[in-house]
Amino acid sequence: MRRKLAAGNWKMNGTSAALGELAALQDAHPDPGVDLLICPPATLLSAAVQETHNGPVMIGGQDCHEKTDGAHTGDISAAMLRDVGARAVILGHSERRAGHHETSEDVRAKARTAQAAGLMTVICLGESLLQREATNTLDIIGAQLSLSVPDSSTGENLVVAYEPIWAIGSGLTPTPDQIGEVHDFMRDRLEQRFGPGVGRSVRLLYGGSVKPDNAAEIFAISNVDGALVGGASLKASDFDPIIRALEQA
Ligand code: 13P
Repeated sequence: MRRKLAAGNWKMNGTSAALGELAALQDAHPDPGVDLLICPPATLLSAAVQETHNGPVMIGGQDCHEKTDGAHTGDISAAMLRDVGARAVILGHSERRAGHHETSEDVRAKARTAQAAGLMTVICLGESLLQREATNTLDIIGAQLSLSVPDSSTGENLVVAYEPIWAIGSGLTPTPDQIGEVHDFMRDRLEQRFGPGVGRSVRLLYGGSVKPDNAAEIFAISNVDGALVGGASLKASDFDPIIRALEQA
């Protein structure tokens, strides 16, 4: 059985005042029936780990470098994330693929390093609207999945997030059939590559405009094991009903 996962990606949002949201989240969910992960900006990681100490909320980074150390000004290594108490890292988010020209090969190299450092990697995939309209979605997802996911992946250190680029921050979401088609496809591909044991144990998240009012419908879709939530993870009062919907799914 895959344990469901509600993950929040704060992106470039939050100063120390936002730590109160973590406290509120832990107060509301002292013993959640699902795994909880919040990925705040790097500047808040240390304080976020302290804030959630001994509680159920895991803290993760939003990116790391593929190298273990060295002359890479402004970058953060996987070992640094581990050292500060982070347990996971988001890799290959479409905002990094677009804004920082990250390729799937780059994402795979980062994921290999992060997994070797003991981090759970949340690898993001997603098609553009143009690609969906050209009915290329499964080709795009298949290529991103095979190239971005390293051979070192297991059910413990790999989570895959399907995030259609056109659904992120837009208020648009794919239909349940469209989400189900991609998630079933990703499951098949993972089972083919890693065998049924590992392939069935990797958690598959949906991300893109997940809100309190559409969460239950999304969580009812086959092979959706949780969500990677942007905007609605910033406030505990918005994330809370999403977590509850996942607990009830
Ligand atoms: P929104 O939930 O704000 O659409 O963002 C989704 C996302 O990009 C999570 O990584």
